[in-house]
Amino acid sequence: MTDPAPSFARAWTAPTLSVIVPTFNERDNIAPLVEKLEAALAGVAFEVIIVDDDSPDGTAALAKQIALEKPHVRCIHRVGRRGLSSACIEGMAASAAEFVAVIDADHQHDESILPLMLERAREGADIAVGSRYTGEGSSTEGFSARREAGSKLATRLSGFITGKALSDPMSGYFLLRRALFNEIVPRLSHEGFKILLDIIVTANRRRSGRLVIAEVPYSFRPRFAGESKMSPLIVAQFLGLIVSQVSRGFLPTSFLLFSLVGASGILVHLVTLTLAFEVFDFNFANSQLLATVVAMTTNFILNNELTYADKKLRGRRFWTGLLSFYLVCSFGALANVSVASVLFEAHVVNFLFAGIAGAIMSVVFNYAATRIFTWR
Ligand code: GDD
Ligand code: MN
Repeated sequence: MTDPAPSFARAWTAPTLSVIVPTFNERDNIAPLVEKLEAALAGVAFEVIIVDDDSPDGTAALAKQIALEKPHVRCIHRVGRRGLSSACIEGMAASAAEFVAVIDADHQHDESILPLMLERAREGADIAVGSRYTGEGSSTEGFSARREAGSKLATRLSGFITGKALSDPMSGYFLLRRALFNEIVPRLSHEGFKILLDIIVTANRRRSGRLVIAEVPYSFRPRFAGESKMSPLIVAQFLGLIVSQVSRGFLPTSFLLFSLVGASGILVHLVTLTLAFEVFDFNFANSQLLATVVAMTTNFILNNELTYADKKLRGRRFWTGLLSFYLVCSFGALANVSVASVLFEAHVVNFLFAGIAGAIMSVVFNYAATRIFTWR
């Protein structure tokens, strides 16, 4: 049996705009979203690129089903990876159109302003941002009170780093020329939720502070179906992104999270040590050994969940990862003690500074080595 001859000429027009839709468990949202996009973009040659991270609910399978029926829909099905920013980047990188936009799958972003966003970009704006806070745009409907307060705070923090008077830099709804995306993509962080913020800071640097941003107001709607993926982990990643931007990338988000987890390990260590030594009457050496193993284990689990959520180790790789983590940390401790001793013996610094230098040494060493051996 042969397939019917394809009739490209009739069915296909080169898209001017690629609309990237990142998805994780959005099965019930995508078909109605595609219909809303078709209605909103009636006069525009556009395509929809759904970037799904192998959602357990089968979003990718459904997206591919839609793609079979509609030539302007396709699906990037990513396996073994997670993350909103990296999904958006991958979607935009897969586009060949003149313009790219990113919109949430859950219908919270109002698709009817897309033509206006496109117009703004055509008129010369570098980026058009769907904004919940300018003009008639409203945020109250789709947000809980706590979430709204958090969002306002995050907005202030990010205004501080972008240096741009933006009413909604936390938005995940934006449109830009693909050429600009191509210029900045090597410098974008793949971590976390805040892709737009990162794009603005990076593009603004590229344009020597003269980036032109057009804000288009809209009303943030409640979720159509499914659940939000926002979590404390994502908030922590966001704070990491802020510090990493302020330090101009010198301190990557993952290093900050790694150090934060390391600090929590000291607490775990001291609690375990006290319990073992004081309550369970272990001798000191055994108590210290136990505390070290417990702290390394919680550090590994936290780093796996938080710092490296995007390359989380599971199943067999979790256990081999844990082993390599123990090994690296042992060498890290060795590096710590040697650096501290050398500094102390040479009378360069007093004992406290020698101790701190040793600790910093081991954090840097552990960070670098676990990136090579544990979370590759
Ligand atoms: N591929 C992929 N991988 N998509 C993801 C992932 C992921 O790991 N996590 C979330 N998404 C998708 C969701 O499926 C949804 O389409 C979109 O990203 C936004 O996720 P929500 O879970 O709906 O986030 P939210 O509503 O809490 O956050 C919204 O508000 C933020 C501002 O406060 C979004 O609009 C964000 O983009 C925005 O920054
Ligand atoms: Mn949402």
